[in-house]
Amino acid sequence: MTWTIVLAGASGYGATYVREIAELEARGLVRLVGLCDLQPLDGDARRQFGDRALDARLDRLLAETRPDLAVVATPIHTHLPLGRQVLEAGSHLLLEKPPAPSAAEWQEILTLARSRQLSCQVGFQSLGSGAYARLAELMAAGKLGEIRGIGCYGAWSRDAAYYRRAAWAGRRELNGVPVADGALTNPFAHAVATALALDGSTGWDDIADLETELLRVRDIQVDDTSCLRLRTARGTVITVAVTLAARTPAEPVIVVHGTQGRAELHYTRDLLVLDGQSEHHGRISPLRNLLTHLDQGAPLQCDIASCGAFTRVLEHINATPAPRLIGERWLAHESDGPQDRIHIPGVEAAVRASAERLATFAELAEPWAV
Ligand SMILES: NC(=O)c1ccc[n+]([C@@H]2O[C@H](COP(=O)([O-])OP(=O)(O)OC[C@H]3O[C@@H](n4cnc5c(N)ncnc54)[C@H](O)[C@@H]3O)[C@@H](O)[C@H]2O)c1
Repeated sequence: MTWTIVLAGASGYGATYVREIAELEARGLVRLVGLCDLQPLDGDARRQFGDRALDARLDRLLAETRPDLAVVATPIHTHLPLGRQVLEAGSHLLLEKPPAPSAAEWQEILTLARSRQLSCQVGFQSLGSGAYARLAELMAAGKLGEIRGIGCYGAWSRDAAYYRRAAWAGRRELNGVPVADGALTNPFAHAVATALALDGSTGWDDIADLETELLRVRDIQVDDTSCLRLRTARGTVITVAVTLAARTPAEPVIVVHGTQGRAELHYTRDLLVLDGQSEHHGRISPLRNLLTHLDQGAPLQCDIASCGAFTRVLEHINATPAPRLIGERWLAHESDGPQDRIHIPGVEAAVRASAERLATFAELAEPWAV
């Protein structure tokens, strides 16, 4: 069947959907009936879909086009208002991650989707990776032995321009509404969600306790260098140590420490390393999986209901005092101007050590963290 679709948010990350929808349309799987954006379409979107309905108001576009489903790839604080319009119009929803900037908003979208009997997929694309599925299967079958813990490390670099690109970038809140654009809740949200999913701990009540160390190197409201440690209800310790202030960026890794084996999931690369042996896998995108779900009843990779534990982490971070600014003496600056980069010398080793030892930055006695 050919599903009719509307896309809200056509540039930024939405450009990924512009490309994917064009491919799916060429194969007759979807037909894009409208785009919603506050800005005029950029070159790529105009070339692909310049002939389609374009409206800055999603509710009006939905009323005109009555799509089967809508993708919402707009800033985090618009997810609830736009997602609500989609569900109230009777369309299935694919919502970008994180699904919402607060627990109350997540709950409202979930309740609305359930009451309307509509599907709501969340765009945690790492959960559609064959590498993730294989590792989850091995863990569930006890092939790694008892799981001693799951540690994730990530070290990226974001320059000053990254935080200037949008009014919501680096914000906890904007005009009184929560945004939650911290390192753990946005850029490295996949790490948190994927580690929880590997443990089978995706529900709100699946977390027994959690602690965070939230730090920042810039004049922003949120954390850019962070360590999360939690214990799930089944007793697994999970740590996620990340930074956006690395000198030498590298793709993030989730390390599963089992009594009979060690696995490394490179979740952005669909790569699984099992006791030193590499396996490369493919992936099914959140949109493709949603279509298969609607067509054939395949389970959703990331139903909004399975973002409960992730949202509990996010809510905990929202309630934590503002991240602490790391002292200037621990920082190095690469240049001035819009490309200004700040890094914490040694942070790459620190996040890695956290994942290996399931330790916090303070326990590792990182001088910039204590
Ligand atoms: N899955 C991933 O790997 C991934 C990666 C990056 C971003 N994201 C997510 O994608 C979403 C968008 O992030 P971004 O950085 O592209 O944001 P952005 O600020 O670049 O905005 C994306 C688009 O939405 C439009 N827009 C903004 N407000 C709108 C509104 N009220 N109605 C209609 N259109 C609106 C903007 O004009 C822009 O074209 C966020 O939820 C983000 O967390 C996901």
